Amino acid sequence: MPVITTKKELEQHLASLPKNQSLGLVPTMGALHKGHAALVEKAVAENDTVVVSIFVNPTQFDNKEDLEKYPNTLEQDVVLLEGISKNIIVFAPTADDIYNNRIQSKVYDFEGLDKVMEGAFRDDHFNGVGTIVEYLLLLIKPDKAYFGEKDFQQLQIVKNLIVANNISVTVIGCPIVRETSGLAMSSRNERLSKDMRKEAAFIYKTLLTAKEKFGTESANYVRDWTEKQFENHSDLKLEYFEITDVDTLTPVKTKKTALKYRAFIAVYTEGVRLIDNIALN
Ligand code: PAF
Repeated sequence: MPVITTKKELEQHLASLPKNQSLGLVPTMGALHKGHAALVEKAVAENDTVVVSIFVNPTQFDNKEDLEKYPNTLEQDVVLLEGISKNIIVFAPTADDIYNNRIQSKVYDFEGLDKVMEGAFRDDHFNGVGTIVEYLLLLIKPDKAYFGEKDFQQLQIVKNLIVANNISVTVIGCPIVRETSGLAMSSRNERLSKDMRKEAAFIYKTLLTAKEKFGTESANYVRDWTEKQFENHSDLKLEYFEITDVDTLTPVKTKKTALKYRAFIAVYTEGVRLIDNIALN
């Protein structure tokens, strides 16, 4: 399996592929788990060749410690990908190769999608995501690009970026993959203690009950109810719980039957941020 580390080499490799073949892209930051594997498997099923990028993008981290602690498991990642298909190209560049010694993000207008939830809690995070995703799409020119719904806000922002910048690619959102306990799969789960990894299943359990309650109660009621659940669970510090409409990510005040809603949550524990979300209707 080719593991390519410079954009020049990648361009050469892509140019050597047979014409008229479809190309998929799965952008990742490595430390691959079953959630990534599901994205790659879907991409492999739908494309002749798939590029999996593995790049811990510095411009999307507002917290230096989080960036420094982000796991780097390239060798294991390659083994996992080899087990999925031979038609995968790994692109694992350095920050200098991508940013030409100027590690800075572009500034985007995401029409407010970046002002709530993750955007409100992580300064400039989505400008960093936009910068690297736009870069990869323009470099690789895939027919389809795959993103997990665990980062649902990111998925909506990527869709917005593609339309605003006229990039020709189909963006495919893929369902959240969960551990047996219900905890959403994340590379950051590895940093939790064994006990906390079990206890963190409470996040998804609470989302499921919130969904049930949203069927009959108002959004405000469900918000208050959820906040109370975490007051009784002081090991898991609730950063936000928000119910928004799916398209604009605007927090809902009064439910409208025509709209689709989703609940979003971020919890901080043992120095790790965990996020999750669930479709409500
Ligand atoms: O979701 C991620 O892992 C990252 O935000 C992405 C899309 C690979 C950009 O660095």
